[in-house]
Amino acid sequence: MVEANPVELNPAGLEPPHLEKIPQHVAIVMDGNGRWANARGLPRTAGHQAGEHSLMDVVAGGVQLGLPEMSVFAFSTENWKRSPEEVRFLMGFSRSTIHDDRDTLDNWNVRVRWAGRRTRLWASVLREIRQAEFQTRNNTGMTLNLCLNYGGHAEIADAARAIAEDVAAGRLRPADVTEQTVADRLYLPDMRPVDLFIRTSGEFRTSNFLPWQSAYAEYYVTDVAWPDFGRRQLWEACRAFGGRERRFGGAVDRVRSEHSDEG
Ligand code: IPE
Ligand code: IPE
Ligand code: MG
Repeated sequence: MVEANPVELNPAGLEPPHLEKIPQHVAIVMDGNGRWANARGLPRTAGHQAGEHSLMDVVAGGVQLGLPEMSVFAFSTENWKRSPEEVRFLMGFSRSTIHDDRDTLDNWNVRVRWAGRRTRLWASVLREIRQAEFQTRNNTGMTLNLCLNYGGHAEIADAARAIAEDVAAGRLRPADVTEQTVADRLYLPDMRPVDLFIRTSGEFRTSNFLPWQSAYAEYYVTDVAWPDFGRRQLWEACRAFGGRERRFGGAVDRVRSEHSDEG
């Protein structure tokens, strides 16, 4: 592929906004590549290629903003339903993208991790991921979780299996299973709860992305297709997040509190 201009971390004249409240963990469903390409008379794969630039730009924007953690949905456990040609392209493209962008991410002090299921994932893709994880393991900037061959139901089922094995082996009593027991057995147990869940290209659905971690996420859907999304759009989503009132199931009786303020 002919490489577009490499993404700079701090391009001149592109300052992140000053936001009072930033999400601790942003999850992104990078959707709309195929539609973006087809609308231009191009094959779907051209949309995936164009999406690489968006990913690097968004990661740069996250680093600039000081986001602690970002998770991106690159390939779902349901995406195996696509044509063999598209699946093959996506696997090969993931492998080369991780390989090509690893040094840049390392230079940006980004720590790369993988969340997903091993079954069916190409061994050569996993090798590139493991190399990126190893190379960036001591980085202290933003954590980037690459969700590749990831599915939320698969993740929870895998956790359930691990719990069942512990119970069967006598290491765990059923009565001791708590929410934390499940959380400890997810692919990345130390993943923060998702604060902001972004989906590009207009669909109002999660498509099985991080259901456990996003239980109290704020959702943000934009019509912009992933290849047209970039750091400015990420910053706009983070600004919108700052205006949300989060309650986590709690409640404040405004009438009573206003009344008692007066008294
Ligand atoms: C997202 O774009 C990329 C992946 C799912 C791998 P799509 O390929 O889903 O593009 P649309 O949604 O069909 O336009
Ligand atoms: C979600 O997008 C998966 C990724 C972005 C990797 P899809 O395009 O697969 O989701 P659906 O099929 O529209 O629900
Ligand atoms: Mg899609």
